[in-house]
Amino acid sequence: MRITCRIKRYHPETDEAPYDRDYVVDVAPTDRVLDVLLLIKRTQDSTLAVRKSCGHGVCGSDAMVINGQERLACKTLVQDIATNDGDTLTVEPLRGLPVQRDLYVDQDAFFAKYRLVKPYLIRRDTEAEEGKQEFTQLPEVHRKFADQTKCILCASCYSSCPIANAPESEFIGPAAVVQASRFVFDDRDEGLEDRLPVLDASDGVWACENHFNCTRVCPRGIKVTKAINRTKRLIKQAREKSDQDV
Ligand code: SF4
Ligand code: FES
Repeated sequence: MRITCRIKRYHPETDEAPYDRDYVVDVAPTDRVLDVLLLIKRTQDSTLAVRKSCGHGVCGSDAMVINGQERLACKTLVQDIATNDGDTLTVEPLRGLPVQRDLYVDQDAFFAKYRLVKPYLIRRDTEAEEGKQEFTQLPEVHRKFADQTKCILCASCYSSCPIANAPESEFIGPAAVVQASRFVFDDRDEGLEDRLPVLDASDGVWACENHFNCTRVCPRGIKVTKAINRTKRLIKQAREKSDQDV
């Protein structure tokens, strides 16, 4: 099958603005979009910048906008997009993050927001408890955050979110809340209070307006909006409890 792959190209040091470049390629319907990009890089244009690592939907490094929607290039087949000779496959970098070159985006802001929520288990253990205690967990508790553990930090949700992408937005973004919720619903964690200044803020969970784009594009099938809304409810309960304790 012969298709056109239209790639958004941009080299900030030499180009005044991003532009589309078309490549005609012979592909099989079962080729992955990542295969197509690597074929172009190998046979037509070695200057094409594309990031990938695992090639199997695990590392999250090849998230990009394919025919208008955030997807992993390594998990998207040509036949998901193009089915006939002459069809066009469009490939653009993620939105809302600065383009470093072609399909490379600068992920620093995304990971800075991720780190803000302290995405690790927080305990108040005393030294006496360390190493002497086994933390058992009931399956029904694990189910409260199991979905969120699937996040691969690909930033697709961030790219698709109209709030995170609004000009001057400081919203921490869907992925950061997913990561926070992975821990705040874990009964071994004791760090809700440490995370509240970031989560319970106008740029935290409350900035989410339930557009559901994040849930639609997440390549891991995480119910992102649901995780955000459950985190909102948990914060409200924590506030009510602290009001009662006063
Ligand atoms: S929640 Fe889904 S879309 Fe967002 S970073 Fe994690 S895996 Fe990617
Ligand atoms: S290359 Fe790792 S997720 Fe696609």
